Amino acid sequence: LAMDFSFMNEYGSYYLTGAWTTIKLAFFTVICGGILGMFIALMRLSANRFVRFLASAYIEIIRGTPLLVQLLIVYYSLPNGVEWLLVKAGLPGDALALPDFAYCVIALTINSAAYVAEIFRAGIQAVDKGQMEAARSLGMPKRMAMTHIILPQAIRNILPALGNEFVVIIKESSQVMVIGMAELMYSANLIRGATYLSMEPLLVAAVIYFTLTFPLSKILSLVERRMSAQ
Ligand code: ARG
Repeated sequence: LAMDFSFMNEYGSYYLTGAWTTIKLAFFTVICGGILGMFIALMRLSANRFVRFLASAYIEIIRGTPLLVQLLIVYYSLPNGVEWLLVKAGLPGDALALPDFAYCVIALTINSAAYVAEIFRAGIQAVDKGQMEAARSLGMPKRMAMTHIILPQAIRNILPALGNEFVVIIKESSQVMVIGMAELMYSANLIRGATYLSMEPLLVAAVIYFTLTFPLSKILSLVERRMSAQ
């Protein structure tokens, strides 16, 4: 089993550009997914049955279908759909054309938000019931009690889990290579094709993914320990 890593001299930089795109994908996804997920979690906890139903349906459908399928559906329907709507409205069809990067972030965000919603819900529900009751009995409106009393305590449970979602998205974002998005996995595959080496470029990719995720999860467990120590 002789392995050959001499391709790194010529192709090493491809990994860097790929890894940078992976980091950007994960970063924007976690921000957008965090915001969307928080709204879906609040909908999930709403007093209105229909709003609750919408949120649960979203969460169940997204978690019950593969990310790969969601990505392909977004990539092959959203651009055409938007163009169709614009033309219908008498506007130039490409007025809202987005780069592939944006569609990848949209697909990953749609997926991540469903998981984040459950992170928020679990975090909120883990706060003792008595906190809301105490706030309400002091005359606080429900919304104010939520933002001033419940959420600040829930953050302690939510933040570490959100960090973990970042780790998950770094890994899951590798799936966007199927639509030709030049992230880390795409680079690895490109190098495989150029060098006829089937495995070595993948090993390098694995090592790079690990050097991205491992320090992150170490930092996370540190933060987690700090937060629960208070
Ligand atoms: N591997 C899963 C799939 O292909 C996606 C999991 C995404 N998880 C997450 N926490 N965002 O369906």
